[in-house]
Amino acid sequence: MPDKPLIKVDNLVREFSVAEGESGFLGSIKNLFSRKKSIKRAVDNVSFSINPGEFVGLVGENGAGKSTTIKILTGILVPTSGSVDVSGIVPYENRKENSKNIGVVFGQRTQLWWDLPVRESFDLLRSIFRVPDEIFHENFKEITEVLDLGPLLKVPVRKLSLGQRMRCDMAAALIHSPRILFLDEPTIGLDILAKEHVRAFLKKINDERGVTIILTTHDMDDIETLCNRIMILDEGVIVYDGPTETLKERYVNEKILKIEFDGIGDDEILTPHITTVKKEGNIRWLSFKKDETNIQSVITKILGEYCVKDIAIHEPKVEDIVKNIYSTGNSEAAKRRSGAVAP
Ligand SMILES: Nc1ncnc2c1ncn2[C@@H]1O[C@H](COP(=O)(O)OP(=O)(O)O)[C@@H](O)[C@H]1O
Ligand SMILES: [Mg+2]
Repeated sequence: MPDKPLIKVDNLVREFSVAEGESGFLGSIKNLFSRKKSIKRAVDNVSFSINPGEFVGLVGENGAGKSTTIKILTGILVPTSGSVDVSGIVPYENRKENSKNIGVVFGQRTQLWWDLPVRESFDLLRSIFRVPDEIFHENFKEITEVLDLGPLLKVPVRKLSLGQRMRCDMAAALIHSPRILFLDEPTIGLDILAKEHVRAFLKKINDERGVTIILTTHDMDDIETLCNRIMILDEGVIVYDGPTETLKERYVNEKILKIEFDGIGDDEILTPHITTVKKEGNIRWLSFKKDETNIQSVITKILGEYCVKDIAIHEPKVEDIVKNIYSTGNSEAAKRRSGAVAP
């Protein structure tokens, strides 16, 4: 039986009224007098539900509506219409109550006190959230260890590097043991090592503590390594919501096999439906289309015709798939943009 959803969003809409400005000097004078407004729909009739323990990646181009969605779920923004339930609470009606259940990290700005040493920020949060002593100490010890914050505790936040600050921000978001963690671009600007550190930590708290995590990101490696579910937003509309694996199956038609032959020389591979995309000594990268043939039949044919030492299947990267969905190809997002299908 499926769990009762922890987060439920129905027909969510958020509009912003934006001033339509004319550019240039004369334009800016005109703008002073005529206040023409237009409506921007940042989140356009979005529905989804998230079960306890899920790790969901919310992706989309700049301006797709990711941050607006997160802000509504955390109670920072009020929706224009639609309903939102986060662990039994309507976030924008009861922001304080909601904040007990959630942790929030915005990659682009810190929630910590800029001039205070890290440790003091934690103490402030502890009293704000009224975290009982025992829970605080246990939590603090564990998080400090896992995120290796020991050496940073005495350092004022403003002196931390971006990677160090992100680790502290995550610790701060978790100090009151929330069930849900929202992260808006947590790996933005981090170097590879810091990213790996952050990812390992997130994976651990999802696995071990069962914290439900919703993460927005530009970095498809975040999704690839962390999220079993991906939601793709395009101009405020969800264009894909499902397992990351299914996304690959659904959108990738071309598969690539890397095959090491036992002495093939310069021979061309003449098996039907197969194209050689790269050669390197006895190794060939062969591509085929899933709608023309399938992997079993390709491998059977090749093994029947050639001596093979090794075969590897190249998995498609989520990065390429998402790019493909946005490109003017045959994607639902592209069709929707051109008006060919209703959203
Ligand atoms: N406070 C605001 N006022 C006016 N427009 C906004 C505001 N916040 C967001 N928007 C607009 O809503 C759209 C979605 O923004 P956002 O949710 O920040 O996207 P993302 O996080 O996916 O980059 C964009 O077109 C953005 O310009
Ligand atoms: Mg954003």
